[in-house]
Formats: sequence, C-alpha cells, structure tokens
Amino acid sequence: MEPVPVKIVCNGTAYQLQVEPRTLLADLLRSDLGSKGTHIGCEHGVCGACTVLVDGEPMRSCLMLAVQADGRTIQTVESLELPDGSLNELQESFHEHHGLQCGYCTSGILMSLTALFNEDKAPSESRIRDYIQGHICRCTGYQQMIEACVELSGLRSKELS
Ligand code: FES
Ligand code: FES
Repeated sequence: MEPVPVKIVCNGTAYQLQVEPRTLLADLLRSDLGSKGTHIGCEHGVCGACTVLVDGEPMRSCLMLAVQADGRTIQTVESLELPDGSLNELQESFHEHHGLQCGYCTSGILMSLTALFNEDKAPSESRIRDYIQGHICRCTGYQQMIEACVELSGLRSKELS
C-alpha cells in the first residue's frame, strides 16, 4: 500500500512522517521515533505494556494505527524524565517502594498513572487501583505500586492543605 502522511507531536517534538496505513502506533513509536520505552507485550489490548498518552488520555498503542494519531499529541514514558535527567516524582516513588522488578509493564503503568495524577492531584487508593487494574504485571503483585502511589497522593494532599 502507498505510504500516507502523518503529522504528530511526540514528547514535544513535531514529526511529519510517511507511514504504511497498516502500521501500528506502537511500531511507529518504537521503530521510527526510537521510543523503545513503549513496550509491546500481548499486541491485542490486554496487558497494557504499550500504553501511551494520546492528547492526555491513556491509549493502548498496539490497538491504534499510526494514521489514527495524525494531528494528535503523544507522550511516551520518555517524556516523564525531568530536564536534568532525573526521575519525576511518580518514578521516584516507584523506585523508593520497589514498584517494579523486570520493568516490562512499568512504562505502560506509569503512563496510565500519569493520566490519573494529571487529572486528580491527590487520587484515592481506590482510584489508583482502578487505573492499575487495566495492566498485567507478572512480577510484583501490584502492592508496591499501590503503596508508591498512595504515598505520592498523601504528599500532594499535604501540599494542597
Ligand atoms: S501490547 Fe498493547 S495491550 Fe498488550
Ligand atoms: S515488573 Fe515485571 S511484569 Fe511488571
């Protein structure tokens, strides 16, 4: 098939690309834009490893064609790094609470939680659990991730009060 033009902004950089119509957004991000932090697990929308933000909303990039991202803004896990190269507060809390082991699921989970913490400065534990439950992690048992998020939410609550 003939390539089609796609314009996207990914992690603050504008791209104009020519892509095959069948190209998945996950493949575009990894192969064309070098966002290797976007992981591909099941490739059918179940595991959540490929989750990125599209116009601020968490989306499974294995279920979206690259052409469907035309004109939209994408954020991958690479966007979470602070300007000095350090971890952001959510990543730091995961690190402190041992919220990851192999890390394969982590980038997708961080992106879903980023959407939550963007929308709700100090989410409840039940909201945190709702956002994590759409992801499969084979290593951690999830508890440490929840603890990381609950602590971050508590810190933010104190800042707000
Ligand atoms: S790789 Fe996309 S949901 Fe599993
Ligand atoms: S940390 Fe290994 S799959 Fe989640």
